[in-house]
Amino acid sequence: MIKERIQKSLNQQLNAELYSSYEYLAMSAYFESESLSGFARWMQLQSQEEYGHAIKFYNYLLQAGGKINFAPIDAPKVGWTGAEEVFKDTYKHEQKVTKSIYELVDLTLEEKDHATNIFLQWFVTEQVEEESTALKILDRIKLIADNKSGLLYLDHELGTRAAAN
Ligand code: FEO
Repeated sequence: MIKERIQKSLNQQLNAELYSSYEYLAMSAYFESESLSGFARWMQLQSQEEYGHAIKFYNYLLQAGGKINFAPIDAPKVGWTGAEEVFKDTYKHEQKVTKSIYELVDLTLEEKDHATNIFLQWFVTEQVEEESTALKILDRIKLIADNKSGLLYLDHELGTRAAAN
């Protein structure tokens, strides 16, 4: 049976992943309003990926004999000054998620919960990719600076992102 502290923290992470999904959907809506449909598609797929992360926590909690405790999901930010600000927020957000995953891993070591520790390893690896992807896109946006053609080229490229299986 899963320990109370672990159950509570996994439920908090479930909520955080749902918030991530909500936030990226808000960013997608922002890009739609800016007629940057490639960025919008990329963010919508990112939102779906985050929902998938939430479902991993949901399924694991149930499988481990835990209870699901839904909590309100905070409203995401609305309105950005441009793609650079959006991806700055994305990178910052992913760094925050990494920190919370690491704290969860620390907790499993404290509680000697090896099963949850193994479950979380997937997220540890995933966060390396999440941070690296956000930073790469941010760096490219900075390179483009005020060049509109560059922005449209990147928009086209991000629009080719494949949906996750
Ligand atoms: Fe679920 Fe982007 O971390």
